[in-house]
Amino acid sequence: MKVGFIGAGSIGSAMIKGLINSGMSPQDILVKGGHSNRATNLQKELGFELVSDETELKSTEIIIVAVGTPALDNVFSQLKTFVDQQVVVSVSGGSTIEFMHKYLPEKPVAFAIPNTPVSIGEGVAGISYADEFTEQQRNLTKEVFEKMGRLIEVPESQLGILGTVAGCSPAFIDVLIEALSDAGVLNGLPRELSYEVVIQMLIGSAKLAQQHNGHVAELKDQVTSPGGSTIRGVAALEEYGFRNALIKAVDKANNG
Ligand SMILES: NC(=O)c1ccc[n+]([C@@H]2O[C@H](COP(=O)([O-])OP(=O)(O)OC[C@H]3O[C@@H](n4cnc5c(N)ncnc54)[C@H](OP(=O)(O)O)[C@@H]3O)[C@@H](O)[C@H]2O)c1
Repeated sequence: MKVGFIGAGSIGSAMIKGLINSGMSPQDILVKGGHSNRATNLQKELGFELVSDETELKSTEIIIVAVGTPALDNVFSQLKTFVDQQVVVSVSGGSTIEFMHKYLPEKPVAFAIPNTPVSIGEGVAGISYADEFTEQQRNLTKEVFEKMGRLIEVPESQLGILGTVAGCSPAFIDVLIEALSDAGVLNGLPRELSYEVVIQMLIGSAKLAQQHNGHVAELKDQVTSPGGSTIRGVAALEEYGFRNALIKAVDKANNG
């Protein structure tokens, strides 16, 4: 299977890396870059096939559009000239199915929002498919995206908030890692060790939550003994508005 990319910026390059890290041959990835030498530099590092014109992506089964929003009209005007049987998935903000259908009427287009952990196969992407998608085309899209993590189909109206939760929260988690590590250092742990402990604790806690068959609060209940240190910490989090701070952070990111 050959995958085409238009745009190899932050998210495009993360996806290309994710595909190659999953074992896909760089020769099966064709990339059309923009005006800077970003795609050329990435090509030197990753070895995919660099093309100079969108029409050279005609041989691919799936084209992923990952350009900035201002370039969308230009890119879809090009796609209109040759896309026939191919699946087109855009991850660019503003490329609604309605927008894409203006250029590619009745074609299998999809709007997806991935996050940057796709580069290590641990991403999560929301996707909405146009009605034209056949079962086979969905399977093809899943096959490609699941090399980079999880793919979750949602109505288009939920894509934005899914993208915000999945795409902005990694930065919030980075702040959390730093703060917990600071707390470790404040109480005598060496800095590097503190980061190591916090990061592994987060991976373990996330995996436990993922495997737990029930409400996540049950896990918290299991580790809070009466009058113990953990429940005192939980009470401090409530006192300082931790839960509300996270809700407000996501809401602010999503709604401005
Ligand atoms: N970053 C994320 O985590 C993320 C996640 C999900 C969705 N998105 C969405 O994905 C889109 C891209 O975001 P980004 O963060 O990757 O932006 P970015 O780093 O600015 O990358 C956009 C890339 O598109 C290239 N480009 C522009 N016009 C092009 C054209 N006609 N043909 C080929 N390439 C072209 C640019 O190349 P040159 O610079 O070389 O001109 C640039 O490298 C945005 O709409 C964003 O909302 C981003």
